[in-house]
Amino acid sequence: MLRTHTCGELRLSDVNKTVTLTGWVQRTRDKGSLLWIDLRDRYGITQLLMEEGKTEAATLATARTVGREYVLKVQGTVVERLSKNDKMPTGDIEVKVTSLEVLNASKVPPFTIEDNTDGGDDLRMKYRYLDLRRNTVRENLQLRHKMAQQTRIYLDSLNFIEVETPVLIKSTPEGARDFVVPSRMNPGEFYALPQSPQTFKQLLMVSGFDRYYQIVKCFRDEDLRADRQPEFTQIDCEMAFITQEDILYTFEGLVRHLFKTVKGIDMPSVPHMTYADAMKYYGSDKPDTRFDMKFVELNDVAQGKGFQVFDSAELVVGICAKGCAEYTRKQLDELTEFVKRPQIGAKGLVYVQYKADGTFKSSVDKFYSAEDLKQWAEKFNAQPGDLLLVLSGETAKTQKALNELRLKMGDALGLRDKNKFAALWVIDFPLLEWNEETNRWHAMHHPFTSPKPQDIQLLDTNPGAVRANAYDMVINGTEVGGGSIRIHDRATQQLMFKHLGFSDEEAKKQFGFLMDAFEFGAPPHGGIAFGFDRLCSLFGGADSIRDFIAFPKNNSGRDMMIDTPSTISDEQLKELSIAVQEVKK
Ligand code: AMO
Repeated sequence: MLRTHTCGELRLSDVNKTVTLTGWVQRTRDKGSLLWIDLRDRYGITQLLMEEGKTEAATLATARTVGREYVLKVQGTVVERLSKNDKMPTGDIEVKVTSLEVLNASKVPPFTIEDNTDGGDDLRMKYRYLDLRRNTVRENLQLRHKMAQQTRIYLDSLNFIEVETPVLIKSTPEGARDFVVPSRMNPGEFYALPQSPQTFKQLLMVSGFDRYYQIVKCFRDEDLRADRQPEFTQIDCEMAFITQEDILYTFEGLVRHLFKTVKGIDMPSVPHMTYADAMKYYGSDKPDTRFDMKFVELNDVAQGKGFQVFDSAELVVGICAKGCAEYTRKQLDELTEFVKRPQIGAKGLVYVQYKADGTFKSSVDKFYSAEDLKQWAEKFNAQPGDLLLVLSGETAKTQKALNELRLKMGDALGLRDKNKFAALWVIDFPLLEWNEETNRWHAMHHPFTSPKPQDIQLLDTNPGAVRANAYDMVINGTEVGGGSIRIHDRATQQLMFKHLGFSDEEAKKQFGFLMDAFEFGAPPHGGIAFGFDRLCSLFGGADSIRDFIAFPKNNSGRDMMIDTPSTISDEQLKELSIAVQEVKK
């Protein structure tokens, strides 16, 4: 190495040592007779000292030419600092420079390389290699590294084998669009990049691998959000000869192992909640269970009292915000505006203030007596001082809107602490969901998910009521993983494709290989995939997964640094048998 020590390791015990350090210039301070440089590398910052009259004139002169982000190699002696800095691990010492070499100059960086940088998102993405010099971003990637290491340690200890599956494959439906790659050698034909290795991991179970995992890139062409990237990473797992309980137990074990080893947190065992309950009590299939504020249905006490809005509603449902009875008119109006926003879609908001003196004040006083409202309050288990917020309308839409309001109130009351973690298994998902756009049933998880045997008979009569052996792990309201017990026989898989609107021919063309494999002794099997980027950002206490990915894409799917997607040459297009005219249009 060019250096004897890193910029983060020297302490008082190193005083008098002659050392060589390498790194980047964080800042310089020139007081005339004294010159300081803060030298930074991945490990920390060390203060360098040069003194008029004591440091060689040539060295001082060179030091005065360096600017931020110059790359230096310096030699010197470790000395105790006169004024110590207890905020820095190396703050007790400094290095008295005897020689200084500029290994490389640097242009002035377009934003400051500090924890709180002045760089906006776009600029940081364009110069991502500079952004990655910042402690905060680098620490996120170090966390990611640790998470991957611990994942491998845990799964290896349970006999899982890491197997790489191909990236140039054929479409696997996970609900998004495929990214496709044209094949030069097979004109007019395309590979698809995997939305997940789903079919391959199932084939590995047919092969007898028994326990598989892979930390693997997946590709989905879908609208991007803070928790979605077009290429992202899964911890993808599959097991044979298991029940659903075995899967839940094994992978709850993984998450608890990660919490313990990476964050030092003892996570209690993970509770189970059915999809039906999640919708009924939280209006979401990924409830944030860091706080209670469960939905309470009021149809029986709120209907039939002459309030037309409630009387005509399929569902009247509310939440109780503890200690919010004294919300001002302005605050209540703001909440009403919030639920009426088009994204939330409620028509209005009914509130009941349960005053500290035991009286009630509500937006529907005309229709409900104090006695009526007392009955509501009892349903919520509300206390004087609490505020009831009630929505009504069509069931699914009202639940969805109240979920948003619940999360907003959770934020307002400081109940969504990023350092607190609440995990949950949501189980018994519906097998199918109706898609308004295509006007047909889609698999809610994917088409390889097995229906609950006792529900199969409903497939023809009431497909929406068929439950699946499918489960999600939710932490703090984020879906961090999902999986299912699979179909492992040809007949059931064929039946499933039929219900998803595939003709026999289409099913055979797309998934014949899997159904063929099922005829050669496929074991019962099931699995799960965790969104690795999401897990990392959750552990890091961030909302966006971007800062846990070394080189992410922006919201339009662009890599701003290498500037892609980009055009390709006419020659390349020709080679790939793609009509040049079509592309240039
Ligand atoms: P699923 O589609 O639920 O299941 O994906 C598993 C997990 O991957 C994460 N995830 C994403 N993370 C970042 N960006 C995205 N665009 C993105 N899409 C999904 C989520 C999700 O829970 N093959 C099945 C798993 C199985 O059945 O075993 C699958 O891919 O955290």
